[in-house]
Amino acid sequence: MKLFDVYPVNNIIIEKALGSHVWDEKGTQYLDLYGGHAVISIGHTHPHYVKRLTDQLHKVGFYSNSVKMPLQEQLATLLGKVSGKEDYQLFLCNSGAEANENALKLASFYNGKKKIIAFKKAFHGRTSLAVAVTDNPKIVAPVNETDNVVFLPWEDEAALEQAFQQYEVSSVIIEGIQGVGGINVASESFLRKIRTLCDTHNAVFIADSVQCGYGRSGKFYSHDFAGVNADIYTMAKGMGNGFPIGAIIIAPKIQPVYGMLGTTFGGNHLACAAALAVLEVIQEEKLIENAASVGAYLMEQLRTFDKVKEVRGRGLMIGIDLPDELAHVKKELLFKHKIFTGEAKPNVIRLLPSLALTKAHADEFLDAFSKELNK
Ligand SMILES: Cc1ncc(COP(=O)(O)O)c(C=O)c1O
Repeated sequence: MKLFDVYPVNNIIIEKALGSHVWDEKGTQYLDLYGGHAVISIGHTHPHYVKRLTDQLHKVGFYSNSVKMPLQEQLATLLGKVSGKEDYQLFLCNSGAEANENALKLASFYNGKKKIIAFKKAFHGRTSLAVAVTDNPKIVAPVNETDNVVFLPWEDEAALEQAFQQYEVSSVIIEGIQGVGGINVASESFLRKIRTLCDTHNAVFIADSVQCGYGRSGKFYSHDFAGVNADIYTMAKGMGNGFPIGAIIIAPKIQPVYGMLGTTFGGNHLACAAALAVLEVIQEEKLIENAASVGAYLMEQLRTFDKVKEVRGRGLMIGIDLPDELAHVKKELLFKHKIFTGEAKPNVIRLLPSLALTKAHADEFLDAFSKELNK
């Protein structure tokens, strides 16, 4: 059998990984500023993470949500504490798309309405509703097309107000920092406007934190910079440092009903052990503070390069917007300097490293980047 060929891959096999580095089968070392797409939050194969998962696997790896699981309660308590949203409720699932799917569905259960507001260049995942609120017609199959979604221009407050006049809005979904869209930071005033309009019209504010959340921005949720709370936060990627786990946290005003949401695998013992290990390391090693300071340093340095069009982002979620003539830099970084980075179309290099990235790693990248730009 062949693989279903949907990914354009780099011809590299990763055999070993530790902290912010990975090694191929020939022993070549790479600096990882991509983190397998913003997934590696505490660093590869962190010893505490490996131990917690191994210990758990020796006890019980999986049982379904039909029995009490103290690990889920421990996770809810710790997540509430670290994120500062202690009065929210936790529902566990397996991926970012699934988190958004559940959030949009829950919003509609809550207020009985159907219309969803999403934004241009948004990416929310590939399941049916998540892809319907994703602004990329190429990945929306005919069966996913729906009249229930309205796409508005990014940061256009007048268009937002007008949409609330025109439609019975169930929810507004927004990434605090658009990832796939090219690292676009939502302004604090725009997020506050969403909050006000949702309050006035009994709509649900959904903060997609799948990529920009979990400390990456220098705050636990990047939407926190606006000083307002969303009704539902969705998360995945960094939550399990590579173990598949996703979640939504839900404001107290939204009440659960048996059977309303559900999943076979979500919140299993191993997934909870992984997520607990991640939060323990984030706390112990002060990784959110580290993301804020190393990220600020990187952005400040990157802004000194004249040839860079723009540097956008917060914390360790950084977009370097390059002119067409520098479109080759990403490949040179990988194949010549052995540094993994991410990308966004057309020419944005995306940095999504582990939150434990050191200043020395940042300098290593800046050195390679400057060599490529000043050739
Ligand atoms: C902002 C955002 N939301 C949702 C998703 C979907 O997450 P997953 O691939 O885990 O389904 C992604 C994935 O890149 C994302 O960046």
